[in-house]
Amino acid sequence: MSKSNSNHGLDIFSLKGKTVLVTGAAGLIGSEISAAMSAAGAEIVLVDQLPNSDISSKFAQKSGNSTASTLAISTDITDRDSVDSMTSEAVERFGKIDILVHLAAIDAKFDQAAPDGADGRFETFPIDLWKRSIDVNITGTFNVTQSICKQMLIQNSGNIILTASTYSLVGPNNDLYTPPAPGNPMVKPVDYVATKSFIPNYTRYLATHYAKQRIRVNCITPHGVENENPDWFKENFAKLSPMGRMSDASELNGPFVFLASDASSYMTGSTLVVDGGWTAW
Ligand SMILES: NC(=O)c1ccc[n+]([C@@H]2O[C@H](COP(=O)([O-])OP(=O)(O)OC[C@H]3O[C@@H](n4cnc5c(N)ncnc54)[C@H](O)[C@@H]3O)[C@@H](O)[C@H]2O)c1
Repeated sequence: MSKSNSNHGLDIFSLKGKTVLVTGAAGLIGSEISAAMSAAGAEIVLVDQLPNSDISSKFAQKSGNSTASTLAISTDITDRDSVDSMTSEAVERFGKIDILVHLAAIDAKFDQAAPDGADGRFETFPIDLWKRSIDVNITGTFNVTQSICKQMLIQNSGNIILTASTYSLVGPNNDLYTPPAPGNPMVKPVDYVATKSFIPNYTRYLATHYAKQRIRVNCITPHGVENENPDWFKENFAKLSPMGRMSDASELNGPFVFLASDASSYMTGSTLVVDGGWTAW
């Protein structure tokens, strides 16, 4: 990263020669972002808890680019030994990790908002699910960032992008989850809101801690990425959102590539909101 950037062309968005490690790479957003980073020229380390063959085939589906330089590493981010092996394997293969994109998390999808028979409501929310989310979304984030920061300190450079949510910034509007017909409204579970709230300030902690070591740390807050949601949910969403629609996963590609690239070289500690205006009113 240069101090002054005299390049006025689109080259500043290029990830050519960079190694990007993406956690949650087989997920809804992770598979899209991995393909986008690869299209921007990066070598990609694809990390997820799924078997390597599943991670790789998800990437192949999205990228349609069989020549991309990739390495799949099946890793449970709650297991510190597994995370440290992931870091070593990535460095062994590519020699460095320039960029970490950390997406892996428990984010109950629409039809799973009441997992394990729980109804998702706060007053009955099971402590086991609460602890599980803390383990994956908070301790998992600690494991991955601590392991990779050690490598970035050796390199004396690095760039970390964490994934927050609008629920890191505001509470859920329950009108969004209420179907038109009488019945039990769905609820965005408290474990998600609590564990995502930690991300922006953890970002600021790491950003200020490592600014002099040339490690940048920012986070992105996506919101409402469309994923086979029922029509009534999409209609509720449209009424409550300034832009009047959910996002397509591909609309996150630009913001993630921007933060990964030298185009954002003076940004650290920031929260980039990509929510169609959800938190603007
Ligand atoms: N989808 C949205 O609308 C939305 C909105 C705001 C924020 N986000 C955030 O974006 C990120 C990605 O969301 P998504 O919609 O792609 O979710 P997703 O559930 O589709 O993907 C998450 C991925 O993380 C992996 N994972 C979960 N636990 C793991 C573990 N212990 N070890 C390794 N991998 C693990 C899963 O296998 C999965 O592939 C999450 O951090 C989520 O909170 C999503």
